[in-house]
Amino acid sequence: MTEIDLKAKARDAMANAYSPYSRFKVGAAILTEAGNVFTGCNVENISYGLSICAERNAIVHAVAVEGPGMKLKEIVVTNHNENGDSGACSPCGACRQFMIEFSSPSTQVTYPGESGDVVTTVKKLLPESFRF
Ligand code: THU
Repeated sequence: MTEIDLKAKARDAMANAYSPYSRFKVGAAILTEAGNVFTGCNVENISYGLSICAERNAIVHAVAVEGPGMKLKEIVVTNHNENGDSGACSPCGACRQFMIEFSSPSTQVTYPGESGDVVTTVKKLLPESFRF
């Protein structure tokens, strides 16, 4: 599964986003170390705090299928607004902490930046992360 394929999967998932409040659709596709691909989209709620991001949606899907030993190899995020324009959108802090739980130092993350995709690692997105 190439990064391009993962991006296409993320786009497919984005189409199912439930985002009537922000009108901002996000899709995520993750590749696990076991070689499986899981996708997710953002799902909002009128009680805003109950909304869940696309990345966390995909990750919980992966754990539900692979079990507690699931390890993330790569995460790709894509998005667009109500006009269909993609915008810079890095993963939120909650998603970064959620990712690192199942990541290795090399787990790659790709997301839309100001001028094209940003390719980085979970570790770089969340240095000095909470661990005990
Ligand atoms: N959101 C994502 O799903 N992924 C991101 O990377 C950033 C923001 C969504 C957009 C909106 O639905 C909000 O976060 C709900 O938690």
